[in-house]
Amino acid sequence: MTYLETAAQFYQQVAETPVVGLCCIQSTTLNFPGLRVPKVMQEMNYGCGTTVHPQELIHKPKVLYVGVGGGLEALQFAYFSRQPGAIIAVDPVAAMRQAATRNLQLAAQVNDWFDPNFVDIRDGDAFALPMADASVDVVAQNCLFNIFEPGDLERALKEAYRVLKPGGRLIMSDPIASRPIPEILRQDERLRAMCLSGALPYEDYVQRIIAVGFGQVEVRARRPYRLLDTDTYDLDQPLLLESLDTVAFKVDSPPDGACVFTGRTAIYLGVNAAFDDGLGHYLERGLPAAVCDKTAASLATQFPTEIMVTPPTWHYSGGGCC
Ligand SMILES: C[S@@+](CC[C@H](N)C(=O)[O-])C[C@H]1O[C@@H](n2cnc3c(N)ncnc32)[C@H](O)[C@@H]1O
Repeated sequence: MTYLETAAQFYQQVAETPVVGLCCIQSTTLNFPGLRVPKVMQEMNYGCGTTVHPQELIHKPKVLYVGVGGGLEALQFAYFSRQPGAIIAVDPVAAMRQAATRNLQLAAQVNDWFDPNFVDIRDGDAFALPMADASVDVVAQNCLFNIFEPGDLERALKEAYRVLKPGGRLIMSDPIASRPIPEILRQDERLRAMCLSGALPYEDYVQRIIAVGFGQVEVRARRPYRLLDTDTYDLDQPLLLESLDTVAFKVDSPPDGACVFTGRTAIYLGVNAAFDDGLGHYLERGLPAAVCDKTAASLATQFPTEIMVTPPTWHYSGGGCC
C-alpha cells in the first residue's frame, strides 16, 4: 500500500466516524452573519487554520476546493459566492464526499440563503484536478498538502497553478515544522496522514510555492499547532508544529525574485518629510508601511540609520509598498 492509499483509508475512517479535534486548532468555527454551521460539520473540521479570507472573496469567485472533508469550508466559501456550482470540491475518498454531501444538505435546512447545488462535489484528487487551465479564481486546500511527500507536493502545487486564472489565488492552511522532522517520523504513514509528520520548515514550504511560479505569497496567520513530545515520538527535544495560513498569487515574479509578505513594516525616521528611492518605496516619516521580506532586507541594509524595519507579525493582509 502506498502512503497515499494509507491516507485515503484513514480519511475513509474519519469520514464514517468523526474525530473531534483531529487536525483543528480553532476553538470556535469561523462564523459570519446569517451563517449557521451544523454540529456534525463542526465536528468534522479537519483543517488546521482557515482558508476563508473575506477580503479575497468579494467578487463571487469560482473556487476549487481540494480535499472537501466534512464540507465546512465549502459552505463558508459558498456563503460568499452564492451561485450554483461556484464552489467545486474534489476528494478521492468516496465516504468523505458522501459525508460532505449529507452535511451540506443539513446546512441547507438551517441556512435560508444556501442551496446544496452551490457546491459541486466531485471525485478527483490534487494531482489531476478536473478543471481546464486558467479556469478558477481561487484554489483552496486546508491541511492536505502537508501530507504529501515533496515530489507529490510539487505536483499538487503545479496543478493548482495550472487551473488558476492569471492573478488567481492559491489559499492554503498547513502545519509547518519548527525544525526538520526526523526521517523515521516522516516515513510513518499514519502520522503523515494525521498531519503530524509530513510538515516542512517554513522556509522550505514557502520556497516550494514560489518554485512553481507564484510571484507573491502573503502570510495571513502563523500559530502553534501541536507539540510532538519526546516520549511519544522518540525525539531528543520536543518539536513544535505550527499552522501557517497563506495566500499565493499567480502573478509574475519581479526580476529579483518573488515577494513574500510576513507583516514586516519599514518606518522612515530621517530628517525629511518622506523617503522616496524612486523604485516605488515611498515612506512618510514615522508612518509604518508594509514591505515584503526582500524589500525589508534591502532597506535595512542600505539605510540602517534612516529606516527601521519591524519584525514579522505573521498576519499581513494587504497594503504597503512591495
Ligand atoms: C485533513 S482533511 C482536511 C479536510 C478539510 N479541508 C477541512 O479543513 O476540514 C484532508 C482531506 O483531503 C482528502 N484527501 C486525501 N487525499 C487526497 C488527495 N490526494 N487529493 C485530494 N484530497 C485528498 C481527504 O479525504 C480529506 O477529506
